[in-house]
Amino acid sequence: MGMSSSSLILCLLLLAANLAVIAGAKNEYKVGDGDGWRVPADNDPDFYETWASKIKFIVGDSIVFDYHNDSVAKVSKRGYYHCNETSKTPTLKDGSTVIVLDKLGFYYFVSGDVEHCEKGQRLMVEVAGLPLVPTPSPDSSSASVASCSVLSAVTAVGFGAWWVAVGFSH
Ligand SMILES: *[C@@H]1O[C@H](CO)[C@@H](O)[C@H](O)[C@H]1NC(C)=O
Ligand SMILES: *[C@@H]1O[C@H](CO)[C@@H](O)[C@H](O)[C@H]1NC(C)=O
Repeated sequence: MGMSSSSLILCLLLLAANLAVIAGAKNEYKVGDGDGWRVPADNDPDFYETWASKIKFIVGDSIVFDYHNDSVAKVSKRGYYHCNETSKTPTLKDGSTVIVLDKLGFYYFVSGDVEHCEKGQRLMVEVAGLPLVPTPSPDSSSASVASCSVLSAVTAVGFGAWWVAVGFSH
């Protein structure tokens, strides 16, 4: 077979890490948590900046804006800083808006109400890539690396566990 038990175990650890990343890759965050999407309190104009700074957004995550009698518009960086771009940008008003963060980089959102934006109802989100998955160390034999890739690509955890059982019995 050419694949030792230890390389199998390494391989399964890598596979588990891959699955954990995949399973953990899609979080949905409610903007502003319990406060939702509204004009922040007068003494807390950076409310949404603070909210966003606590989260590490990655590609595939989504954010939900929950609001009443308000709206949300995706704007450029300039529109975010100057609160002057809402009129030419389609504004969503359905009360609950889900945005999928499907690419890297910065996203900017404002309330469609310019006054609300000026009072701090605006959100900037930075989206990073997927966390790096550990790769086999260079001294692993090429055979086990190749087997590992195949195993990672085609197996689920249950099948992997069965494979280990078979491997140990030989
Ligand atoms: C919604 O906003 C408009 C404009 O600011 C205001 O006149 C109206 O009273 C608001 N309605 C509710 C239910 O808050
Ligand atoms: C918004 O304001 C900035 C700074 O004054 C200006 O450069 C930009 O052209 C304005 N954008 C719009 C759409 O009016």
